[in-house]
Amino acid sequence: MQKLAIQGGNRLNGEVRISGAKNAALPILCASLLTRDALQLGNVPDLNDVATMRKLLQQMGVAIEANGSQMALSAANIDKLEAPYDMVKTMRAAILVLGPLVARFGEARVSLPGGCAIGSRPVDLHIKGLQAMGAEIHIEHGYIHAQVPTGSGGGRLKGARIFFDLVSVTGTENLMMAAVLADGVTVLENAAREPEVVDLAHCLIAMGAKIEGAGSDTISIAGVEKLHGASHRVMPDRIESGTFLVAAAAAGGDITLIDARADILENVLEKLQEAGASIQAAGSTINLKMSKRPKAVNVRTAPYPAFPTDMQAQFMAMNTIAEGSAMVVETIFENRFMHVQELRRLGAQIEVEGNTAVIKGCAQLEGATIMATDLRASACLVIAGLVAQGETIVDRIYHLDRGYEHIEAKLSALGAQIRRLK
Ligand code: EPZ
Repeated sequence: MQKLAIQGGNRLNGEVRISGAKNAALPILCASLLTRDALQLGNVPDLNDVATMRKLLQQMGVAIEANGSQMALSAANIDKLEAPYDMVKTMRAAILVLGPLVARFGEARVSLPGGCAIGSRPVDLHIKGLQAMGAEIHIEHGYIHAQVPTGSGGGRLKGARIFFDLVSVTGTENLMMAAVLADGVTVLENAAREPEVVDLAHCLIAMGAKIEGAGSDTISIAGVEKLHGASHRVMPDRIESGTFLVAAAAAGGDITLIDARADILENVLEKLQEAGASIQAAGSTINLKMSKRPKAVNVRTAPYPAFPTDMQAQFMAMNTIAEGSAMVVETIFENRFMHVQELRRLGAQIEVEGNTAVIKGCAQLEGATIMATDLRASACLVIAGLVAQGETIVDRIYHLDRGYEHIEAKLSALGAQIRRLK
């Protein structure tokens, strides 16, 4: 099990290039299944989750060539319509092959994702939407078996009006991909507005899809007979961006993000200014300066454009050493406070009541050995290690490698004392 050793107390200064967005790259890789032509992608991040998705698509028959952050995918010879449990259990986003497979081939067998550390995370909305479009779904032996009857519709999904009881990011993405080849118009109501949904829509439109309203809560998709190849550059990762900005706000310093987008981080940037940071955004750079101890800030997570749940743990780390007390309310996932216990080991003063945590900022954390439990919690613990006195060892950092490209190299380049222990 790999670990990170962090000597706390250094300020962060310099430039860091933001990688492509994990949560845009994953659905966009699955979009390659929708055509036999080649999909050329740029700015694909080098992450474990991307490697897992590549393996999953390749075992279905997708030909993939990768060269650095460039990737070419061709689903001309798909010979397997299945996402096996051993792949889905490590990466829930594998569920995103379901919509494209049913759309293009009229059939799919995808393992039900198992439980997840941060919550039960069911996929009932994905299934309900496909059923509304005419797919017959059986759940057997832990697998979702979807089939479009080959009767009158000739095995093709039909456009439908689908209302999401809950805003679901991958639910919206899965059904958008199912709808692009359906017979007729599909309208997704109460759709997710996340920028990653918009990036997927841009890629699908480049492939010939007819999509309107991506980024709003109502997306309409007019199905077409087939899609063609395209080139698409994956958008920058807004959560990686936010993570580095919070790290600098907590540790102090002056950092500039390169190839980042401020327009999709408005809520996070406002919170950082409230904490006392000064922020300058220009073109594709974001600069943050922090010369004093941060002020505690309240956050309440909700679907985009509200404060992102994927930034909750990172802000909690900053609040542990901030001036004053703050409340953190997690409204999306039912168990996304596992970093609290670990932060307490560093001396943090945190009380939890249901989905609300109250953090009383203290002047200093003390380094200790702590354990990552999920992707964003591990980023939170790294930030805490950067500001704690002495050495902090973060264990189980395979969680971190799923979603952050070369994080210790990027942090070291900013002046952090951090190294990976084999
Ligand atoms: C996406 O997960 C992201 N993952 C998550 O990022 C992110 O935290 C989440 O959206 C919320 O923004 C990817 O995009 C690959 P949801 P997703 O469906 O789509 C409930 C990270 O750190 N729900 O929007 O799985 C669900 O239980 C990851 O990069 C149902 O009840 O999240 C949750 O409470 C972690 N039934 C809420 O909706 C469904 O069918 C939002 O889930 C679907 C979801």
